[in-house]
Amino acid sequence: MVMTEASRKTPLVQEASYQLRHNKLQKWVAEAAELCQPDKIHWCDGSDDEYKRLCDQMVESGTFIRLSQKKRPDSFLARSAPSDVARVEDRTFVCTKEKMDCGPNNNWMEPETAKIILKDFFKNSMKGRTMYVVPFSMGPLGSPLSVIGVEITDSPYVAVSMKHMTRMGKPVIDLLGEDGDFVPCFHSVGHPLSVGEADEPWPCDAEHKYICHFPETKEIWSYGSGYGGNALLGKKCLALRIASTIGKKEGWLAEHMLILGVESPAGEKTYVAAAFPSACGKTNFAMLIPPKALNGWKVTTVGDDIAWIRPGKDGKLHAINPEAGYFGVAPGTSAKTNPNALKSLESNCIFTNVALTPDGDVWWEGLTDKPPAELTDWQGRKWTPDCGRKAAHPNSRFTVSSTQCPSLDPEWDNPAGVPISAFVFGGRRATAIPLVFEAFNWSFGVYMAATLGSETTAAAAGKVGEVRRDPMAMLPFCGYHMGDYFAHWLHMGHKVANPPQIFCVNWFRTDEDGKIMWPGFGENMRVLKWMSDRVHGRAGAVQTGLGWMPRYEDIDWTGLDSLTKKEFEELMNVDTTMWRQELDSHGELFEKLKERLPRELVLTRELLNLGFSQKFFDSQEASKRVLVDESAVH
Ligand code: OXD
Ligand code: MN
Repeated sequence: MVMTEASRKTPLVQEASYQLRHNKLQKWVAEAAELCQPDKIHWCDGSDDEYKRLCDQMVESGTFIRLSQKKRPDSFLARSAPSDVARVEDRTFVCTKEKMDCGPNNNWMEPETAKIILKDFFKNSMKGRTMYVVPFSMGPLGSPLSVIGVEITDSPYVAVSMKHMTRMGKPVIDLLGEDGDFVPCFHSVGHPLSVGEADEPWPCDAEHKYICHFPETKEIWSYGSGYGGNALLGKKCLALRIASTIGKKEGWLAEHMLILGVESPAGEKTYVAAAFPSACGKTNFAMLIPPKALNGWKVTTVGDDIAWIRPGKDGKLHAINPEAGYFGVAPGTSAKTNPNALKSLESNCIFTNVALTPDGDVWWEGLTDKPPAELTDWQGRKWTPDCGRKAAHPNSRFTVSSTQCPSLDPEWDNPAGVPISAFVFGGRRATAIPLVFEAFNWSFGVYMAATLGSETTAAAAGKVGEVRRDPMAMLPFCGYHMGDYFAHWLHMGHKVANPPQIFCVNWFRTDEDGKIMWPGFGENMRVLKWMSDRVHGRAGAVQTGLGWMPRYEDIDWTGLDSLTKKEFEELMNVDTTMWRQELDSHGELFEKLKERLPRELVLTRELLNLGFSQKFFDSQEASKRVLVDESAVH
């Protein structure tokens, strides 16, 4: 980076509890400081002491509210600026030399132009603040599968959040040594609204935000927002957008997937990776507690949001969770929906944009059936149940270390990862998509994943509730052309002898009254058990036009009386008219990606079209000439 700003007269104070030996890193930090003009530089060591000090400072400055030590020990509440509550997809850019390389799925900026524009915004943006240098590892420390990043930020909220979300601090500096590789992640919350507001509790630039990725030089520049997905640059920016481009080159996958282990009563372990769009229940699914009646079955958590997946020597795909914490959606999290998450949040946790109770605890919609009589809402206003507003923001979040999760899998930190036997793809769909089916083969599964659709949620700024195609739940996170990404997926299945079986699910199908039909949450274990039994060749299914589907008798219903066979059949119904519309909508997606769309997917769509136009795939029709997969071999 070339600086034009005249250097300051007095040398900048640098706080570091370790020796700085990496010239390239120091030079980058010095150049950034010259541009942004912070008051001082603090090199994070990741210690508990440092965490405590920064939290105390934020309590002092008003960024954090300390929660009751009795109710929620060592925990804090942050309230963001009302305009800075979600990822900003329309302000997120992939900067490649050729526009075509980032694809129609990304906003594009020419790299040099982007840097010129952003430098102007970064100029003096840290005046009156401290610049934090945050070294972090995505993936287990020292694993050959991990990637090291260093984030420069003027947000102490980001610095402490990175301690929960990544392996952060001195051990990473030690690993880097004098010349180790790192991804530079440059972040500023930006110029506050007007001069003199540098120390407002949640500074951000309300008018200008740029979340820029430079895959060709492996850099990230993020300006103007302090919200997690825009500001904790190890997460969506590095571990998905940049990592997906590295994976394409090197032959692996960076996916928006949770990873869980299913353990049978006999102790057999099956690992599953599942992709759902943001705020569709990934964290709940990853921490699922099976119903008591399914005695002896257990689910363990490797990760709740991101998976890096590589071919292993054993002919299977192996996955690591590059993160070390959860940045989960709070509303809807309760003792009923996710007891493991609630236990994880008992202490040592950062909450953002949830409501505050009079006794210094937190609350959000769905936490309890009955709301407290009085609260302070996420914007600091007095709240009562009849006031007509939400108490917590719909995208309010908790940030907590993985190690606090009671269902944490013993292998979660294994540098070699865990072997994946099944991929699951699901969206939020009121109609059309059955509760569960298994794709016939890898390319059919890739087709289903590539055409995944979901109703939009509050995790991204914009309209909520519209169906949008969200291939592999990666639409906002794939750092390159989606057509090339599909080709990469098709290729990955051929790279290993034993690729995972691919399943599709839909927990959100509604009845005529708009009520969600499937009980979900812990009951999802019944579907997981069927999948795990399919993987081990011991569960039945019937062949339909979409793939292999369980019959009523193929699912273990022990202890669940509330769902009738008829209701199950409704959940599984494949409506020909709706599927023709689905296929039209797949066609619209394919049209957008046509310059780089693999032919295999076009042909699969044609096959499906043919089947549906001949009513061959109508589930009612199909059930008359069902092919029972008695041997469960396919
Ligand atoms: C997230 C998201 O924060 O997907 O995980 O938005
Ligand atoms: Mn996510």
